[in-house]
This record gives sequence, structure tokens and C-alpha cells, in this order.
Amino acid sequence: MPETAQSPSDRARERVVEAALGRLGLDAKARLLSGQDMWSLPALPEIGLGSLVMSDGPVGVRGVRWTVDDPSVALPSPTALAATWDPDLAHRAGVLLAQEARRKQVHVLLAPTVNLHRSPLGGRHFEAYSEDPYLTGVIGGGYVRGVQSGGVATTVKHFVANDAETDRFTVNNLVSARALRELYLAPFEAIVDSARPWGVMTAYNSVNGTTMSEHGHLVNGILRGEWGFDGFNVSDWRAARSTSAAIEGGLDVAMPGPRTVYGEPLAKAVRDGLVAEAAVDAAVRNVLRVAARVGILEGAEPVVSEPPATVDGESLAREIARRSFVLVRNVVRNENAVLPLHPGTVALSGAAARDARVLGGGSATVFPARIVPPLDGLTAALPEGSLTYDVGADPNEELAIADRGFELRAVCRDASGDVIGEGAAPNGHIQWTGNDLPDGVTHDALRTVELTGTFNPRDTGTHTFGIKGLGAFTLTVDGTTYYDDVQRTDEDSPFQTFFGAPVPHALAELTAGRPVEVSLTHTLARAKDSPVKMIAFTLAHQEPRRDADELIAEAVESARAADTAVVVVATTERVESEGFDRENLRLPGRQDDLVRAVAAANPNTVVIVNSGSPVELPWREEVAAVLLSWFPGQEGGAALADVLTGAHEPGGRLPTTWGSLAAAPVTRVAPEDGELPYAEDVFIGYRAWEKAGATPSYAFGHGLGYTDWTYESIETDGTTATIRIRNSGERAGREVVQVYLAPTEPDGARPARWLAGFAGVEAGPGESAEAVVELPRRAFEVWDETANSWAFVKGSYEIQAGRSIADRRVASSITV
Ligand code: BGC
Repeated sequence: MPETAQSPSDRARERVVEAALGRLGLDAKARLLSGQDMWSLPALPEIGLGSLVMSDGPVGVRGVRWTVDDPSVALPSPTALAATWDPDLAHRAGVLLAQEARRKQVHVLLAPTVNLHRSPLGGRHFEAYSEDPYLTGVIGGGYVRGVQSGGVATTVKHFVANDAETDRFTVNNLVSARALRELYLAPFEAIVDSARPWGVMTAYNSVNGTTMSEHGHLVNGILRGEWGFDGFNVSDWRAARSTSAAIEGGLDVAMPGPRTVYGEPLAKAVRDGLVAEAAVDAAVRNVLRVAARVGILEGAEPVVSEPPATVDGESLAREIARRSFVLVRNVVRNENAVLPLHPGTVALSGAAARDARVLGGGSATVFPARIVPPLDGLTAALPEGSLTYDVGADPNEELAIADRGFELRAVCRDASGDVIGEGAAPNGHIQWTGNDLPDGVTHDALRTVELTGTFNPRDTGTHTFGIKGLGAFTLTVDGTTYYDDVQRTDEDSPFQTFFGAPVPHALAELTAGRPVEVSLTHTLARAKDSPVKMIAFTLAHQEPRRDADELIAEAVESARAADTAVVVVATTERVESEGFDRENLRLPGRQDDLVRAVAAANPNTVVIVNSGSPVELPWREEVAAVLLSWFPGQEGGAALADVLTGAHEPGGRLPTTWGSLAAAPVTRVAPEDGELPYAEDVFIGYRAWEKAGATPSYAFGHGLGYTDWTYESIETDGTTATIRIRNSGERAGREVVQVYLAPTEPDGARPARWLAGFAGVEAGPGESAEAVVELPRRAFEVWDETANSWAFVKGSYEIQAGRSIADRRVASSITV
């Protein structure tokens, strides 16, 4: 249970905070509110305050270094965590993440992301939970309680309405008060209420004309005033744009540093009479409070002095993955379902079966110590000689970070060309922030960074080399200099270094097993005014391309000869990532053709969909089974083997509706003249599909296990629904009993029904189980824009329980 605001230890910490605040002068206070580098706040030794260190989030804890040589446990994507419909599992994920944060000396985890899946085109949906605010709040609450039970702070993000990526720094989202309250603010409110987060991150975007890092009404008025949030509020990275408006709008900390709108400009604004010192004090108090809670303020007892028992990250990652996989189709023939696999041979295909996509792109990236792709997981689990593998189709159209076969190091030189230091380069991506430079190297002296070493090709043919990054580069492969110029992009955004595509510059004919020298030198620009100290660029590479028809033909050949065909299809980093939205929901490359061709050759074709959020599956009725594996984290392949072999059942239920883009009722993510009206108001996700009378491919809540369930009865009063179900199948299982609330007289202003609660229950074959689901008062309320308050809507409702929003099995009526 979270501590209450008035607990004696809270009061004791508050006294230490006040005393520390009283000992700080204006300059120190202003300095504390500004990042000192990419990830931390300055220490103030005069009051015994350590440096508060933050890190992304949410599938792992990256730490302050952006490199594969500082590995982190990588859990499944947030969509996967939500698909478990299990707040206790989210709690356990949080406990593991706190353990990871402590290991990496991180005090604040920049997570969870609780924005909603408003349009399926949102590029960053893998990082959020659901289209439903209730499910989002429950999963997010479990996660926050888990992390904080380990003594590590969370920042629930991105407050608020950062539901798409197009023009995310500037877009002005126009959202009605009702939609804000009932949908977009709702998860934040639920988490503040149930989990008392110690932090919140405000978004880049504007809401109704005011940018979120200055939104006094939403931050001071609602988040702090109405809900009683007492944590600190950090800007999204480079979202703080003004000194006075930000501090008055309730923004406590501007990140990253060293140059932000706080620090010196804030002290000056106070001295010039533009900002009241009391506003600075309020922000400092919030920062000191989180510092006290995590144990870096001398004299204050941290909230958690004994960290929880150690968690095994690998086994938890595997458990969450198999609990998250959603089996949306499993054809039964002659009373036999296709899954779990029957004894016999398996023909596996798909590029992602070998090079799995385990997490989504952008700031959520972490670097796991190991990755188990489906090929490795199945090889370990199936009898020797029973598995074949073919690429089949490779959707990776663009160059990737130089990795397999490369042995590289980073050589740092000064202006006169003398070597001043050397750094490790475990792959072709360099990202050094703040003072995270190789030993002996300083930003002042550093002039060039050369990534240099060898590449030993796996295949003979034309290899492509390229560069991701902005500025002056020289690229040499096997003695030939292919590029010596300045790389720019059309978009003048520093974020292009992260979200732009690598640019191909060299085609080199190479021979398998014959190593060649490679070198990429980056000459740094002397940008004195740069607000962030960072060196980031990538040597990118692509293997020789094979003929697409040939690849498919090979996979078909193997599939024809096998008892079962398993095809892994996936999105790429270019499709699902932070920084941009999706253009469509299609699987990239020739993957649809591959599935169709394999399915035509083998009636027992099982498709694994390795994507963080919905994609179109136009062949879904032509295959025997479809399993959605999300971005399954580092142990994804092992979990997949657990589920395909039947050692465990797939436990997931859809946290978001899956359907085609053409049928999706809410799709727009692109602003016009800077504005994006949320014109659909409270009708997103299943609320919108039902209103439009449209049938998606797979409904919200849908997901099959390996047993069957009979819904026997439901009893309700105004506050609880009790549902009896029976496991009518042949093996033990877990069912997620979902309860929807439907007004008996539809009024058009409210959705036809909405999720009011759910419970997971387990039962052996033939056994009955009871799900007791609380019906929260809020489920019966709407936001009354005229009265500016919640209004309880009296009347008669049907309480419907079932396996998904479309598969409701029992119902009873109540009048409230
Ligand atoms: C993202 C945040 C992230 C931050 C720090 C931003 O671009 O929107 O979610 O926490 O970067 O990496």
C-alpha cells in the first residue's frame, strides 16, 4: 500500500526538506531546477544533497550511458504488459526495474508512458498500454507501485495528450474538457490516486493553446490542486521553452542541461521581478521531496531502506512475455487445435525469427545482455533435427547499426590530429553525452572521433555502408574512401540524429570470411551554444540483398516438407518508433506474400506477429493460427517456445482493438496549421468502433488460451459483480473475466459500453472459479462540462461479463 500523505515518516521528511530549502540561496535553488547534463541534477553538498539521476524507461533501465556495453534487462513492450491484464505482474515488473535502477545508480525512472492509443497510426504506441483509460490506469498503477516499492521514483508521462508523434514538439491538440477527463487525464488521475507517483513528465505538445510545460491549469490546477499530486514535474527533454511561463505553469525541472531556461535565467528572472521567489521555492521543495524519498538528501529517511528481495530478470522477462502473447486465432480440425504444436517437423521462416525485434525504437531503447530470438528458442525446445529455418522475407529495407561481424574501437583526436584517448565501440553506434567520454578526453579538446576496425562478412556480395548523423564524415571501406563530406537533412532538428534514416554511401563487393578494414571519422562542429553536450553518430551496414521471390520460394519449399510452418512477421524500426507516426498499418516488405505462399503450401501455418501495436493481417483467415507476440523483450524466443510447445498457454488479451486502417474510425494524427482537433471527442478505440458499427479484425479484450471457459452466472449489486465460470477444457488455464457497463437506454452521448473492471482467475480442468469485480463509482460518471465536475448518471445498466467486448457471455441489469 502506498504511504498516506500524512504518514509520520512523510512529515519527518517534510521537515528535513523545509530545513534544507531554508539553507539555500536563490542561485543554488535555480541551479537545482536545471539539468546539469543529459540525465542528472546538480548535487548541492552544502545541504547534503546528492545528484538526482534519471533514466529511461519503460521496458528497462538504460542508465546514463547509451551503449550496449552497459546492458540492462529488457522486458516486453508496454503493450505486452497491458495484454497480461495483470496489475500484479506489472508490479513485479516494477520491482525488477527498481532493482535495475539501483544497480545503475538511477533514482528516477522516466516511465511509465500512459498516453492512449487514440489513432492506430501513432508510431509510439508500443510504449503505451492501451486505448482504454481504465486498463491503462490499472496497469500503470501496478507498475508505479512496483518501482517505488524498490525506493526508486517514477515519472508518469507524457502529461498529457501526447498520443501521436507528428510535430510532437509544436502540435496543439484541441481536446474537450470531457474527453480530457474521461480519457486522457483518467490514467494519470487513477495512478496518482492508487500509487502516489513521485514524479510526472509533462509533454512536448500543447493542449488547447498552451504548451504542456507551461500548463498551469492542468498541472497546478488539476494534477496538484484537485488530485493532490505531491511529486516533482520534469519537462520532456527540451520541452521547457520559457523561464517565467514554465515556472508559473508548474514545471519544477527543465531537462536536459547544462543550458536550460532555468538555472541562471531563472535566478535573473526573480531578481528582475518577473518571477516570485515563492514559485522557485515551491519547485525546489518538490525536487527535495523526491530526493528525500529516494534517499539522497542527508538527514531524511528514504521511503524504502531495505530493497525488496532480488528478482531474476531473465525469468521474469520470459514469464511476462508468454503471459502477454495473444492467440487471436487457433483453428480446430478434427477436434484438434493447431496450437500447441503437434509432434513433428517445423519449418520456421521470417527475418525476425532470426534477428528478433524485441523492443521499440527511440528513448525506450535499452541494450540487453542477451536476446533469445524465436530461432534460438525453438531450436532449444524442439527435438534435434525437427526444425528448419529460411529467411523467407526481410522487411529491413534500410541499413542497421553495424554490429555482427564488426570489431570496432573509437579513436579520439584533437585539432592537431594527436590521439587523446580511445573508447570502446561494441557496435557502430556512438552516443556520448555529458562527461561520458573516453578516459582523458574532454569536449574542449576533442575534434574528431574515428570508428575504426574490421568487418568480417557473413555473406559474399554487395554490402552497403552508410552513416546516420549530422555533420562532417569520412567513410572508408577496404581502402576506398566512399564519402568525405558534410551530411545534412532537410529537417533541421537535432532529433534527426536519432530518428532519421541512415544514408547509404558505399557499395562494396566483399567475400564471406575475408575481413576488411572499415573507418568512419566524424569531425565535430564547434557549436559553443549547444544546450546539450552530446556526440552521436552511427556507422550503418546492410548485408547483400537477396532476390525476394527466391527467398519466398525457399521458405515455401521447406514449409511444404514440414508438418507445421511457423512464419514470424514483424515491423521495423522505420515503422514503429518514437519520433514519427506510421504511414499505414501494413507489414513492410514482402511479408504478406510470404505468409500467403507458405499458407498455400502448408495448411498448418502458424503466424507470429512481432509488432508493438496493430498491423493489418489480410491473410488471417487463410492461416491456421495467429499469435501476437508484441515486442517481447530479451527472452521473447524462449517464451515463444514455451507457448508453441504447450509448456505454457499464451495468456494475453488485446489491450487495443486490431483492425484495418480503412475501417478504423479514428486515424488522424497530422495537425493542420499546427492544430489537431480530437474531433471524435470521447469515442476512441472500441468506443469508436462500436459507435461506427464497424467490426474490427480482433476485438478489444480478445485472446484465446489452451482451454475453454463456460460462463455460468453473474450476480451484481451496484458496486460488485460476481461471475462464476468453469474451465470446460482439458487443461488448467487462466481466464481474464472482463466486465463491461452498458446503459440500457443508449443515449448516443456515451459509448454503447465500456470496460468497468476485470479479474484474472485460474482453474484446473472441470473446476469452477469465481471472479469478483469491483464496479468503481467512476464507471457510472461522466464529466459535466457545464458544472465542471463529475456527474453520476443514474438509470439502468446492463453489467455484461465475457471474454472480450464482442464476446459477452452473461449479463444482469441494475438500476442505480
Ligand atoms: C521522450 C521521453 C524520454 C526523454 C528522455 C524524450 O524525447 O519523449 O519519453 O523520457 O526523451 O530520453
